[in-house]
Amino acid sequence: MSGKERMLITGGQPLQGEVRVSGGKNASVALIPATLLSDEPCVIENLPDIDDVHALVDILRSLGAEVDYQPGAQMRVDPRHADGYTVGYEDAQRLRASYYFIGALLGRRGKAHVSTPGGCRIGQRPIDQHLKGFRALGAEVEERSGMVQAEADRLVGNVISFDMATVGGTINVMLAACKAEGQTTLINAAKEPHIVDLANFLNSMGATIRGAGTDVIRITGHPRLHGTVYQVIPDQIETGTLMIAAAATHGDVTVHDCIPIHMDALSVKLLEMGMMVTATGDSIRVRSTGPQRSVKVTTQVYPGFPTDLQQPMCALLTTVPGTSRVEETIFESRFRHVDELNRMGANITVIEQRTALITGVPELYGAPVTVTDLRAGAALLVAGLMARGQTEIYEPWYIDRGYEHIEEKLRSLGATIRREVSQ
Ligand code: EPU
Repeated sequence: MSGKERMLITGGQPLQGEVRVSGGKNASVALIPATLLSDEPCVIENLPDIDDVHALVDILRSLGAEVDYQPGAQMRVDPRHADGYTVGYEDAQRLRASYYFIGALLGRRGKAHVSTPGGCRIGQRPIDQHLKGFRALGAEVEERSGMVQAEADRLVGNVISFDMATVGGTINVMLAACKAEGQTTLINAAKEPHIVDLANFLNSMGATIRGAGTDVIRITGHPRLHGTVYQVIPDQIETGTLMIAAAATHGDVTVHDCIPIHMDALSVKLLEMGMMVTATGDSIRVRSTGPQRSVKVTTQVYPGFPTDLQQPMCALLTTVPGTSRVEETIFESRFRHVDELNRMGANITVIEQRTALITGVPELYGAPVTVTDLRAGAALLVAGLMARGQTEIYEPWYIDRGYEHIEEKLRSLGATIRREVSQ
């Protein structure tokens, strides 16, 4: 990461053409720690070349796993000599998903000491539901000096009812439960595509997980899991960001290698706004030719409108005539992009911290802006592509945490974007 870097975008050109979406970030960051549950090497294909993946590789190696990884190609993890159980502050702070090492290490060796995670500051983001799940499986869990210490002589399956549908909690407890004796039932489980992908990955290693993608998941534990070769699913949020960028620039873009059904909540919204959205096989085309209409958007757990697309959606809505209303129900402070969009001429007011009222302006203009979190970065990218003149995006490293080769991809669609390092 470098505070001296900035991205420069000259906006105002419609994006046109075809682009391929990368492997899913939020699936990859669950699959990589899950390799520790295997007794044999595992190969994961289609991983995105992003900073969150690089951080997880460093953590796996620090735990003693052998990792053979060439960015852009496959990753082979041999966990046989992974005897470590501690993930320290500096590693854990690099990303939210470092907390998946609690579930994975608890399953692997009954002991995990993992510093509390970093990640985007979009709310308080407690992990009480994760810890409740580990305790229900029989682990002793303590939080001490910024470290979660979870230990168990044996894990025993149980019924765990989450107080809210939590993606991280569902994944973390699923990881540990794979190695617990007997059956674990997760009630009110989250249903996001990456949860299904993790279950498929673990099942390909010999686990028995049924019901992923519904709100009740049943896991029968096994003492040993074997190696596998597995391809991670496409990134739902990158797909959505590209679709939104196409719509926002009044362009015509086909996104290939995606799973259109994962995009239904966004596609329906874009149709409601007046875009043309066509899905064919593993491609989705977004065209915006006529006038756009204001809409109401409420973030929800899958299959509702994803919170991770709320921020780029706000950018799109800044120039849509009328007043759009965007309600964030998942995270309590995910509107830090609003001040930056307003610097670019948007007219957005946030009421009661949870709802943005966006009154369409004729156009945005380029300005220096600063990224505060990953999807705020996506919002500023979209806004920069829309704006008249040049937008300077500071702290672009946030974007590298989740978007593979985003400048090249946007350039291939006709955008004028480059990165500059100032001395
Ligand atoms: N929550 C609790 N207690 C818990 C767990 C969650 O109160 O123990 C609350 C959270 O504070 C939040 C809500 O429940 O209000 C949902 O949180 P969830 O656990 O589902 O989110 P997460 O696991 O922290 C993952 C993604 C996020 C994505 C959310 C929602 C990863 C690594 N992160 O976060 O992705 O926004 O699910 O879909 O998978 C991103 O990619 O930019 C990103 C932030």
